Amino acid sequence: MAPTTPCFPRPRYARSSPPLDDAYRLIEEAGVFYRGQLVGTAASIDPNAPAANYSDCFVRDFFPIGLIMLLEGRSDVVRAFLHLIMQLRGQQEDLEGQQIAPGVLPASFRIQQNNRGDEEIIADFGDRAIGRVAPVDSMMWWAILLRAYTLYTGDADFAHGPEIQRMLRMILSLCLQSRFEVFPTLPVPDGSLMIDRRMGVHGHPLEIQVLFDSTLRSVSLLLPDSGNQWLINMALRRQEILRTYVQQYFWLDMDVLNRIYRFETEMLGENVENLFNIHPESIPLWVQDWLPDDAGYFVGNLGPGRMDFRFFAQGNLLMLATGMATPSQSKALANLIEQHWMELIGRMPMKLIYPAIEGDEWRLITGSDPKNIPWSYHNGGHWPVLIWPLAAAMLKVGRRDLAEKAWDIAEKRLMANQWPEYYDGRLGRLVGRRSNIRQVWSAAGFLLARHLLDDPELPLRFGIDEPCSNNKGE
Ligand code: GLC
Repeated sequence: MAPTTPCFPRPRYARSSPPLDDAYRLIEEAGVFYRGQLVGTAASIDPNAPAANYSDCFVRDFFPIGLIMLLEGRSDVVRAFLHLIMQLRGQQEDLEGQQIAPGVLPASFRIQQNNRGDEEIIADFGDRAIGRVAPVDSMMWWAILLRAYTLYTGDADFAHGPEIQRMLRMILSLCLQSRFEVFPTLPVPDGSLMIDRRMGVHGHPLEIQVLFDSTLRSVSLLLPDSGNQWLINMALRRQEILRTYVQQYFWLDMDVLNRIYRFETEMLGENVENLFNIHPESIPLWVQDWLPDDAGYFVGNLGPGRMDFRFFAQGNLLMLATGMATPSQSKALANLIEQHWMELIGRMPMKLIYPAIEGDEWRLITGSDPKNIPWSYHNGGHWPVLIWPLAAAMLKVGRRDLAEKAWDIAEKRLMANQWPEYYDGRLGRLVGRRSNIRQVWSAAGFLLARHLLDDPELPLRFGIDEPCSNNKGE
């Protein structure tokens, strides 16, 4: 496993500062090699990490690192990573009487030596993870990175190879499979995304819906001549419906809140206003005081009788950064972040969920999870990795000032605190109680945000941002 080639032989990045240099160094030190080729990075290189799998390479954690590799002329690493993850698909173990759907990709993998001294790859499809959660977002991040690789390098041959085509077909068919649902959104189990513990994020969490939309974009990589046309048509149609649906029903501002507050319930039939039978009694008290007049956000989750009013940063930021939100929604969301700067950004960009759940709600929703006590970790902690989607989102909406201000906050603390995984407290002042240090995507998020700030065209070149077709009318 000894590194044979450094990740960044000559970083192309012109700007140099101690935190940027240190971020590069951390990524370099975290390199995971297979047969002499760099294929990924460990999630953390904290020797005292609280869980053994932090030395694994996680698919979602590698995404910002993959983009940095592309920028640094290491597209070979991204190609090797994409290829290796695809091959791992066959490794998932059969569970008794059932199988994880083909197309699901592992949350993470590690390279270890077997008895004969050979390197072997061990993948985790959720069958080894704490709480046994299967990742739904891995296949999505994989497809989005594949598209970024193809657009950025111009190497279409890789994506057009038979194995990748097969993998893409599997992912798209799995996402588009008919189920018991009447909504265009994708239902998932709790903890199957970045928030990989019980946090009441089952159903139709916002983050998954944005990643679903971006995954559907990868249909542009499918060759239309090999019987794929039906899948392509289906993906394009679904994407259109999904975007309109999320824009319309997940959006919350004062007008919408007023409507929900006076909703009639128990309505039958087709053209009813209260489609999901949301009971006004379910609106938490904090919402009416917290929501400013000229601002808004996308709620965290929506399903029958259920609107989760919590603000989830990753989903909201990606709605903006990927061009899935309308221009007026994007502006209103930037206003919300600006007006709630102390709570959402505070002393470290950015809070993952606002507000934290406490008391009985915490007991019932998390199962009394001590790692997710109020204002800690997933339950209201601040995650430095979110600086890159924050920068992409604020640039997209013309608020470079907010992106730079947030980046400066991160620059002052991250290296000094040795790149923590997360921070705690209402304002993110404390280093997370059980946080790793030397967490690699904290460094990668910081570095990528700087790249985005210095070249705002990058999201378009990576295909992360794409003007949304049904925004044109606005
Ligand atoms: C934690 C996070 C997850 C991340 C993993 C590795 O489990 O919740 O999102 O991928 O750590 O960093």
